[in-house]
Parts: sequence; C-alpha cells; structure tokens
Amino acid sequence: MTMRQIAERADVSIGTVSHVINGTAKVREKLRVRVVEAIRSLGYQPSQLARGLRRNQTSMLGMIIPDVTNPFFPGVVRGVEDVAYKRSYRLVLCNTDNDPHKEISYLNELRSYRPAGLLVIPAAESHITAQLRLLATSGPPVVCIDRRPTGWDGDVVVVANEAGSYAATRYLLRMGHRNLGAITGPLHLTNAAERLKGFRRALTEAHVAIEPEYIQEARFDRQSGYQAALRLLRMLPRPTAIYACNDLMALGVLLAARELNVSCPEELSVVGFDNLDFTEFTAPGLTTVHQSGYQLGATAARLLLERIDGSKQRSKRVVLPTELRIRHSASPPRGKTPAAGRKQTYDQAVGVS
Ligand code: RIB
Repeated sequence: MTMRQIAERADVSIGTVSHVINGTAKVREKLRVRVVEAIRSLGYQPSQLARGLRRNQTSMLGMIIPDVTNPFFPGVVRGVEDVAYKRSYRLVLCNTDNDPHKEISYLNELRSYRPAGLLVIPAAESHITAQLRLLATSGPPVVCIDRRPTGWDGDVVVVANEAGSYAATRYLLRMGHRNLGAITGPLHLTNAAERLKGFRRALTEAHVAIEPEYIQEARFDRQSGYQAALRLLRMLPRPTAIYACNDLMALGVLLAARELNVSCPEELSVVGFDNLDFTEFTAPGLTTVHQSGYQLGATAARLLLERIDGSKQRSKRVVLPTELRIRHSASPPRGKTPAAGRKQTYDQAVGVS
C-alpha cells in the first residue's frame, strides 16, 4: 500500500498524506479525517525504516546482553520490553556470548540502525568504555545495566551486590560455619567484585580468616561453578559452606557435591545469588540472594526513555535492593547449632533484630 493510493482514496495530495502520517505540518481537520479514514480502509502500514531514515532516528531500542542461555537475562529483557512497548518503542536484542569482539561489533552496527537509545549489559571481558563515551557525546543515549564497565560514568542501573553478599555470608557465619568457600564471577566485573567485597567484609567483621584458596574465580556459568566446586571440595579441610555468587554456579556446586557424595546441607551448605525460578525446585531448595532482573530492566528502560525525551540531568546510578531468601540448602555445620540454638528467622540469623 503506498501513499499515492491513500492520497487517491482520500482525494488529497501525497504531501498532505505525508504530513498526516509523519506529523510534519498542520493539516486542516477535514482533510486529516479523510486521510485517516483512507488509511483505515486500505489497511496501510507505514514503513518504519523509511520514517526512521527521514528523521535520522527510529523508534527502536537496541539491547546487548552477554548470555542468552542464562535465565537471569530474559527477566531483564522482559522488564525493558514491557516499558518500551507501552511507549511504542520496539526492542532489537543482541547476544554477545560474552565475546568482547562480538560486543564491539554489535555496538557499532546497532548505532548505524539509528536506534532511539541503547541498553547494554557488558560482557565478561568487555572493553567498550571508549565506544560508550563516544556514543554519549554524539550518538543515542546509553544506559548500562547490572555491570558497570570500568571508567563508565554515564547512566547505570545495578543492584546492592555488596549488601546482598554480606547478608548471605553473615547468615552462614551465624549458623557456625568457619570454613567458608566462595565462587565468584569474573572479578573485573563490578558486580562480581562487589559480591566478593561483601563476603570478605562479613568474614573480617566476624574475625574469620580469609583463606585465599577458598576463593575461586569462575565465569558466572554452571560449568565453571561446577569445576570450582570440585576444586573446593577436594581441599583439606573441606569448606563446610560454599557461597556461589550466582545461581547457575550454585547449581554447579550442587552437582559437584552430589558426584562426590557430599550431602547438602548436612555436609555442605550452599547459598547462591539471583533467586532464579528454578532455585525453588532444586533438591534441596536453594537459599539465595534475591535480585529482580525484571526491575533492573524496567528501571533502566524508564531511565533511557527519560533521556530520549530530552532529560539533561546529571548521570544517574540507580541501586536496587537485594534480599536473602532462605530455603533448605544451608544448615549448621556438623556438631554445631546455630548461634541462638533454635530455628531462626532471617532477621535473627543475620542479626538485625
Ligand atoms: O546469573 C547472571 C549473573 O550475572 C547475575 O548474577 C547478574 O547479576 C549477572 O551479572
């Protein structure tokens, strides 16, 4: 269906049709109604691409995520999409597989599609700060989510990683664990480093020595969590608890423990981070730090839309809360009873009541 056909049906010029569709000039109400009726009767669908080229900007948002196979990220995408859809923006999704080269080429390519804005969850080995800075000055607005690339001082939405880890570690300490292992994400990622910081702070405050070999760096995926857990579970003394800094790695820990006949939680307590849906269904149900991927995405999308609408406020760093969700994968180490010697609520366990 072309503009010419609409113009013929409405008995107006092509220019008038174009002005009505693109809002480029005021059109007399009588003519506008004729054009709208013609459009309706012909089922005309304007070409977004052509519109975008004329305005040098489309109503598309580009989003880059590091790992489409990690169930955490679809939640973030969903939050972005819900907000964007309501404002008639459409989402184009790119998955980097944590490959920094793919990440850079997506960033450059997306830009050439004239998106209204970009949302980026940096890859594990990301080196995109220079590109992001360039975009911030001459391209569409950008909001980073979940992980802040080193040196990026633009908009970012993250969660309280340090506080979440601290609460999880305190919970294990209050149960009586003293040999605690941690499996971290890639430590140059801000969220991985903050989670380790929370773990360390809790141990230091409790005067528990931090054994360097009990801290294993992995890649935020199940396989590397599994490998790290095998290393930890073969150490002597064996840790009585492992804090895995995301749920996929915690899943790897449960698998490694099962293979080595180490029972959870009797011989090994396991705590994760994320609170992904499946953690309710693991055996035992996984105690984990809740963060809302959906809220991360929705908040970032709202911030991006403010920028697209012209907000010139200083860069924002939004921090969303985290919260420990207690299930059944952690218990006092053998021979120990929890600090209070009885069943505890979360608040009692972390000492906030
Ligand atoms: O599971 C994916 C992890 O990496 C999450 O914890 C999230 O914060 C991301 O960075």
